This record gives sequence, C-alpha cells and structure tokens, in this order.
Amino acid sequence: MRINQHNRDFFEYHHKTFQRLTFDDVLLPTQYSDVLPSQINLETMLSTNIGLKIPVISADMDTVTEWEMAQALAMQGGIGMLWQSPDISDQEGWIDRVKYAFNVKIDNPATIQQDKSIGYAKEILAKFGNKFSTLVVLDENGKVAGLLTKDKTQFSSNPDDKISNFMIKFEKLTVHEGNLDLNEAYTLMKKEHVPKLILIDKDRNLNGLYCWTNVQSLVERKNINYNLDERGQLRVGANVGVHDYERAERLLKKNCDVLLVGTAHGYSKNVIETVKELKANFSGYKFDIIAGNVVTYEGAKALFEDGADAVKVGVGPGRICDTRVIAGVGGPQISAIFECAKAAEEYNKPIIADGGIKYSGQITKALAAGADTVMMGGVFASAIESPEEKFMVDGIWFKPYRGMGSEGAMKENKTGKRYGATAGGKTVPEGVEGKVELVGGVEQIVYNFMGGLRQGMGYIGARTIPELWEKGKFIRVTSAGDQEGHPSVDMVKEPPNYQIRKK
Ligand code: XMP
Repeated sequence: MRINQHNRDFFEYHHKTFQRLTFDDVLLPTQYSDVLPSQINLETMLSTNIGLKIPVISADMDTVTEWEMAQALAMQGGIGMLWQSPDISDQEGWIDRVKYAFNVKIDNPATIQQDKSIGYAKEILAKFGNKFSTLVVLDENGKVAGLLTKDKTQFSSNPDDKISNFMIKFEKLTVHEGNLDLNEAYTLMKKEHVPKLILIDKDRNLNGLYCWTNVQSLVERKNINYNLDERGQLRVGANVGVHDYERAERLLKKNCDVLLVGTAHGYSKNVIETVKELKANFSGYKFDIIAGNVVTYEGAKALFEDGADAVKVGVGPGRICDTRVIAGVGGPQISAIFECAKAAEEYNKPIIADGGIKYSGQITKALAAGADTVMMGGVFASAIESPEEKFMVDGIWFKPYRGMGSEGAMKENKTGKRYGATAGGKTVPEGVEGKVELVGGVEQIVYNFMGGLRQGMGYIGARTIPELWEKGKFIRVTSAGDQEGHPSVDMVKEPPNYQIRKK
C-alpha cells in the first residue's frame, strides 16, 4: 500500500482545514530498525514499464539535461529527460549519443560490397577513424554474404585483392535470424565461441551486430547499476511538448524510451489530448508516456485515466520557479505528492515528485509521502555534465541555471509551449535566471544524495521504497523545530552534501 493510515489521517486532517504542507513543515521520526544502509534496495518504477535502479531523474531543462547528463545519470541507474530543443534533430542526436554510449548492439554496422577491394575496405575503416576493424560484407542484392575481419585482411599484400577472397563466407558464420537481447546474445556467443554475431531477418537482410568484448564487459560486470533497455543500451527520455507528433515519431524511431508531455499545467486540454493521441497513434513503438505537472488528486487522476504511464507532480516548488508568486497558483509540494499519490494508488501507476529538492532528506520525505521517484533540476545543473560552461565569480566556480519559463529562455525561443502566457503579444516570465555552485560529477552527486536517502530509510527501518511508504510516518514541525535541525555554527568548510542556507 502506497499511503499508510497514519499519513492518510495526517494529510486529510490538514486538508480539511485547507492547509497544505511542504518539505520543511514535516519530519519523519526515527523508528526501530534492523536495517543497515548497505542492505537497502533503491529500485523503483519510473512508469508502467520502465524501472530504475535509483529513484532519480534529471529535469528537462536547457541548463540541465542534454546527452552528457542523460548518459551519466543512466550509468548511475537513473534517467535523464532531454529538454525540448526547438530543433528536433538536436534531441535525435542526443538520443543517439546516449544509446550508442557502449556500442552494445550495433543497429547499423558498417558494410562493404563483396566485389570491392581490400584497399577500399581500408578506406572505409579509416573514414570511421579506425575505431573498429570489421565490416559486414553484402552481395549485389544487399544481402549478408560474409564478414571481413582483421584476422583475414592481414594476409592480403595487394590493395586490389578482392574482398570475396578474404572474407569469412556466410556458410561459415554464426548468424542469428531475428532479434536477440543483450543477455541472449551473451549466452549464444559464449556457447558457440563467436567473437562477432550478425543478426539477420528471414531474407538474409542485415539486422545488427554484436561484438563479444562489448557484450562480455556489460554482462559480466558485477553490481552493474546501469539503467539499460532490452537491447542493452542506456535508457533516455525526452520532453516532446504538446501536439508535436512529428517530434514524437522521430524520437521514437531513435528508440527513445519515454516521452514526457511536460508543461507547467498538466491538468489541461492540450496535455490530455496529446497523451491520448500518442497512445492511439504510436502503438507500434515500445515507449511510456509521462505527463504533468499537476498538484491535485483530480489532475493526476485525469492524466492516468487518459493513459499516462506516470504523472509528474509540482507547480512552483523549484528553486528557479516564481509561478506561485507571479500567477498565485500551485501547491506546497509534500501535500501535492500525497494528493497525487491517492490517484497513483487507485491506478497502480507511479508518480514523480518534481522540484524543490536541495537536500537528500527531502528525497526521503518526497518518497515517504507516496512518490516513486524525484526529478531534480538545480541539483544536476550544478554537475560537470550539465550543458552550460562553468564560470568563476570571486574564486568560486558556478554553472548557469534558469527556469524554462524565465525571460532568457523565452527570448531564446527555448520554452516551447511549456510556459505560454502572453500579454498583448509579450511574454510574462514565470521563472528566474541564476547560477548554482559547481559541485562535481553526476556520480559524486548521486553518491551523496542516495547516501542520505539510504541513511534516512535505515533510521525508519525500510529496506525498499514500498517499505518506506508503509513505515514512514509524518509529523508536523514548527519553524523553530525546522531551524533547530540546521547547523548553527560558523562553518569553516562547506560539506559536500549541505549547502549553507543563504537566506
Ligand atoms: P529544482 O528545484 O529541482 O526544480 O531546481 C526543477 C523543476 O522546476 C520546474 N521549472 C519551473 N517552474 N518556472 C516554474 O515555475 C520555470 O521557469 C521553471 N522551469 C522549470 C520544472 O518542473 C523542473 O523540473
């Protein structure tokens, strides 16, 4: 059960008196525990069909997630959501960079015609920077005819030698008809001692290539935390906005795992229609849909009802957000998570707590309130892998971080239809432009944040996120109680996981 009776009573009590709470209003008292942080399993669901090894997503913002961030976070077991660049080919290129990070299954292996020469084969390999030495050989009809490997070409002394005299002929190759996932390829290659496994269809057309060294290094690495799809490639998601079906299809063709219909107002006609259309028109592709953002039970319910595989929760908690101030709307985040968790429980689907996370303890609270994952913008903008260049102010390195509804993002046409308010043809920003201190690599950031979460779960006696839902019981704290929890000496050194409160 996602919401325990204590938390239901606690939140309903505040609800009845029209009060909503956020992170600093609540705490989770410690409980009896025999759980060590090292025994804790942080696996969770991102959406109906996609799991994560850690409950962490990087935000779809231009100062946060392009391919480097998405790749680094998927290698830690999370997932990155690519921001919706106006140029669709940017997102296509970023997906390729993430998907081909390890060249596990090569979907489009380099090929050569069998009547060509060894000299020509060397030219082709040089064009690819001599990063590999194998070419799949095709006959005059474009069907697989053999494989040209370095083992054989080394015996050629004349560049005019014909490839067909040096290739391993089709009959002597181990090929596989149909698809194989990474683990199946591993088993077959190991059993048959095959260094290169060619995949074909029933008509002998080329379908892909597995190379043993890549397959082995991925499958045999113990404790591997990578977040991989069935092909053994890293998972990635992307914001596709509303009613942009050309974008959606182009990204799905690149094997994008999840499409995010992400706007400032998810409980809206455009978002609901887009979710429905994507579900109805792209059933030939394997993908999940995340929709958002909402802060109410009704909003989350509407999105689940129309087919969302996960709903993103949060209006205004983010550190670059001023929607609540500018528009006077939104909802304190912990209560918003609880409200949407009620719908998640009914539909048995995940929700994502988006925005407002600065400290790891807030992740423990967001999950205990019923979320499956958290999305973070500012935390990851401060990583080496975020897209923008670092810059120095008074001897300290910073990275830019701005809202997708900020004036700068709008003027550069990077907002899409996400924050669309106009007044007399002019835009009204709902976000600010700022900077965050450069903290380090994604690996280090994840280590600190997941370390804090594990400690929190250890104090509560929860081995898994569902156990945290069951055992985490909120109490209300006063502002004096909250203040008491923060260090109150003049720090001489800033710790890696606590930013001194500047305000
Ligand atoms: P954090 O706190 O993790 O928040 O930095 C990231 C989330 O903030 C949202 N976002 C905005 N909200 N105006 C807003 O009111 C904006 O310009 C804006 N840009 C991003 C978004 O949900 C993101 O994941």
